Amino acid sequence: MEILLIDKPQDTAWRFSMKDELDLHGYKKIAIMGGTFDPIHYGHLITARAVRERLGIERVVFMPTGNPPHKQGGTVTDAHARYDMTRLAADGEPGFAVSRIETDREGMSYTLDTVNQLSSMCDKKCKIYFIIGADALSEITDWYRPKELMRLCRIIAVTRPGTKLRELKDRALYLKNNYGAHIRLIEVPAVDISSTDIRNRVFAGMSISFLTPPAVCSYIEKNGLYKSDDGFDDIRKKLYLSLTPKRFLHTRGVAEEAKKLAAVYGCDPDKAYLAGLLHDCAKDLGRQRSAELCKKYSVELDRVLKTQPDLIHSFLGAVLAQKEYGVNDEDIINAIRYHTTGRPDMSVLEKIIYLADFFEPSRKSFDGMERIRSLAYEDTDAAMDFSLNHTIDYNSKKNRLIHPLSLRAAEFYKNKNKGG
Ligand SMILES: [Fe+2]
Ligand SMILES: [Fe+2]
Repeated sequence: MEILLIDKPQDTAWRFSMKDELDLHGYKKIAIMGGTFDPIHYGHLITARAVRERLGIERVVFMPTGNPPHKQGGTVTDAHARYDMTRLAADGEPGFAVSRIETDREGMSYTLDTVNQLSSMCDKKCKIYFIIGADALSEITDWYRPKELMRLCRIIAVTRPGTKLRELKDRALYLKNNYGAHIRLIEVPAVDISSTDIRNRVFAGMSISFLTPPAVCSYIEKNGLYKSDDGFDDIRKKLYLSLTPKRFLHTRGVAEEAKKLAAVYGCDPDKAYLAGLLHDCAKDLGRQRSAELCKKYSVELDRVLKTQPDLIHSFLGAVLAQKEYGVNDEDIINAIRYHTTGRPDMSVLEKIIYLADFFEPSRKSFDGMERIRSLAYEDTDAAMDFSLNHTIDYNSKKNRLIHPLSLRAAEFYKNKNKGG
């Protein structure tokens, strides 16, 4: 997958110097807090401060990750911008510092290399701690040379109030006995802020104040990070308020993927984008609200929809796009209506939305995903044939009824690809 550096500040005169100005001499206890920090927010800062206070750490060093290696893909803001924002957030807080070790490193980055490099900047007797989320304890043994890492630094595993400690304590003991690890479990205040939500909010044209320090808010605004000036802000705001953060991210992914596919097939990119944004607009309404709206707008529920309410959102979504989002374009409405079932002889836009839904960047990988992606960019009919069969197989294995539209669509694209 190609890396997409989604947001790069317009002028590349970064806020802070490219030189590492970090001086870590004279300290006895330093903790590293790694993360993408895209962007950093109060949740990170509160965690860092809690750890510092509890363990008498003199400096918490925030370590924003660098640009991901070329083949790893994903969407992440340029490393220099993330470093700048982390510096702005940490500046002025005694005991906080930011390192650009990973920002400046090209290619794959191992925690072990980072800790080694940082420790060479400290006095010999300085104890180095590494802060991780407690859930990462279960996977730390898969990291690069875990034994060396756990000997080189002590691990601080942070938990949220209410986390069951029993299993974590067992895991910590296992790591101590088998890897020589020193692990401290520290409970930090629960702050329900996420970088994803901040990006979603900016993308939806909503305020992010009180989520990250004012200097970071200004940086994001000044550099146009995370936003899109395309006139769809009102729709995004409405969607943001009716979808879960994860779904909102997914709709963004489908909209952007649909726009790319539209460019390949000579379809109107704005139409594709709008259809992608709205395709799941009825997905997170909840059973009761969904039933009320189906009744209000006379959305008929056939036998399959009655047994699989999950499919209703595409039929209801098509109506909501008209009635509540003011869309009148028939092709967009049909692309929303048939994005879960498909149908025979779909328009280019209908196929684009159906397919983009499978492989937009935030979608968790599954068997066949890469095949659908590559087919979608080569031949939409072949991609439909493959993906319809994939979905029918998947649902048959789960003993679900297959919608007649999907069966007819599968037949249609099978014949079409045979040259029939
Ligand atoms: Fe959907
Ligand atoms: Fe979707």
